[in-house]
Amino acid sequence: MKNWVLAPSLLSADFGRLREEIEMINSSQADWLHLDIMDGRFVPNISFGFPVLHAIRKWCTIPLDIHLMIVEPDIYLSRFLEYSPRYISVHFEACIHLHRTLHFIKQNNCKAGVALNPHTDIDVLKSILPDIDMVCMMSVNPGFGGQKFIEHTYSKISRLCALRTQLGSAALIEIDGGVDNHHSTRLLDTGADVLVVGNSIFATDNPLETIRIFKNL
Ligand code: DX5
Ligand code: ZN
Repeated sequence: MKNWVLAPSLLSADFGRLREEIEMINSSQADWLHLDIMDGRFVPNISFGFPVLHAIRKWCTIPLDIHLMIVEPDIYLSRFLEYSPRYISVHFEACIHLHRTLHFIKQNNCKAGVALNPHTDIDVLKSILPDIDMVCMMSVNPGFGGQKFIEHTYSKISRLCALRTQLGSAALIEIDGGVDNHHSTRLLDTGADVLVVGNSIFATDNPLETIRIFKNL
């Protein structure tokens, strides 16, 4: 089995027990913690913002992977960069000057990701892929945890892999939304490098054990 990254999505955690949940993640085999920031405009939901991020930063000992589901992300990038995440992903659909946005993130010692909605074709990345460190491919419509995985994601991964080879890109492929144990092996075999998993970890009786099972496929 190749090396791959498991990034639990905190969105499905119990925020009333935030510290415990994060300590559980710290002690688990999870590689990164995925943080979903929603503004109620780019997506029809609001998640959490800077005060919660501040607490997460204080407690979390593994790399942070921030997924911005917000309009005009440039306005807030400096604020998010203060938390020293490993990755920040912005949505292709939310960025007018994507090249500038990605380079701003990279100049600040952070890896730059681009997230694509399920309806957005991977061909839109042709001229920007060499500047991207990670493509976050949405396998649900962003906005909520616990949704059903969209099957056409597999063919998008295959096409992105081909494009990556063609352009000599080293961008990681992250799959976000509706991922459970039934999809993970096929997703990794198709070319995924990072799996984001929310509900299928946090809604189980023993998330620590679920993470162990995921990582030892
Ligand atoms: C959806 C978010 C995802 C989501 C993943 O808008 O970007 O990260 O929380 O959670 P599950 O695995 O429950 O779909
Ligand atoms: Zn996400």
